[in-house]
Amino acid sequence: MQVMLFSPYPKVKREELFDREKELKEIEEAVKRGERLLLLLGPRRIGKSSILNVALSELPYPSVKVDVRKVYSEYSSVNRYIIGKMLLSALRGRKRLFEEARMFLEKVKGVRISGVNIEINPKGFSLAELLEVLNEYGSEKGRIIIAFDEAQYLRFGGATRYDGIIAYAIDNLENLTFILTGSEVGLLYDFLKFEDPKAPLFGRYHHDIFIQRFSSDMSLEFLMAGFREAGVEVERRELEKAVEELDGIPGWLALYGYIRVTKKLNHEDCMLEVIKEASSIVNKELSRLFSYSPRYRFILKAIALGYSRWRDIKDYLTLKVGPINDANFSKLLDNLVKHGYVERRDGRYVITDPVLRKVLSL
Ligand SMILES: Nc1ncnc2c1ncn2[C@@H]1O[C@H](COP(=O)(O)OP(=O)(O)OP(=O)(O)O)[C@@H](O)[C@H]1O
Ligand SMILES: [Mg+2]
Repeated sequence: MQVMLFSPYPKVKREELFDREKELKEIEEAVKRGERLLLLLGPRRIGKSSILNVALSELPYPSVKVDVRKVYSEYSSVNRYIIGKMLLSALRGRKRLFEEARMFLEKVKGVRISGVNIEINPKGFSLAELLEVLNEYGSEKGRIIIAFDEAQYLRFGGATRYDGIIAYAIDNLENLTFILTGSEVGLLYDFLKFEDPKAPLFGRYHHDIFIQRFSSDMSLEFLMAGFREAGVEVERRELEKAVEELDGIPGWLALYGYIRVTKKLNHEDCMLEVIKEASSIVNKELSRLFSYSPRYRFILKAIALGYSRWRDIKDYLTLKVGPINDANFSKLLDNLVKHGYVERRDGRYVITDPVLRKVLSL
């Protein structure tokens, strides 16, 4: 039984990815044109990492990718040694690339390479210098792509100002292209500050690609293709129901397909299982936010239950956990928007992901 399309991990190869032809082409053309900064934006589970992986595997240039969210959750820091080390180990993981790049990397102060071991001596190591060297290597290879998945976490760089480093590279290192993804779109923009005249990236050209949900038709086709691949027969009517409830978010559609195929469940039981699984995923994702302020949980619950006006949400919160002043409340609400959990539409607040809505209303 094949479960490539429904596999519940970020995809790497084009044949595992359903559609996204347009997005892949847009990335490819931009990189080949020599653009230096691309952003792949969209809510969680929309397929950013998958699209990024496939693009990197197909582009004819060497690339290094760092999952900044993962680095931050493992090390609670994204200082320049850690990011430098991650960039170097991403290179080391690709043997041929590493051999080729080695003579360049050996030039970087503070970097020591012996065999497959790479050490960084914090004294004297500069990330800008590592990028300069990669740029030199890039002039041989046509270009080097440096990808930061979930780049909004670079804001935790402490003394390391990644916006400054990226701005320097964009201005001076013509053989580098940066691709940044972000699910917390508002936070990523806040961090990059393209509109702030005092910020290093002010006015820099960036090519933003917003990854959209699948339309209902595409969602249905995705499910049909996945079940066909797995050799499992399902009723079209049930798939239409699934599409209605999961609403074009590839991550949930794939999870539905994966559970249905591997656990051999009927539609209703599978939906229950998807919600259960989603609930544990979402609560884990939100736990950090909830630890900052337990009020976030009640605000999300209010919105999930259908309260959409600023005043109504605030009243619900006050009723549940006591009074809060307007400015503080607005800040919390605004933060949920920046994190991408809540959207503001025509002055109302909504949770557009139906699974998230369901999970948070429980
Ligand atoms: N076009 C697609 N075809 C098949 N599966 C997909 C597609 N897009 C996403 N998926 C699946 O959906 C899930 C989420 O995808 P992915 O991790 O790439 O999304 P993301 O936008 O990076 O999410 P996050 O913000 O959580 O990192 C994965 O299990 C992936 O396999
Ligand atoms: Mg991702």
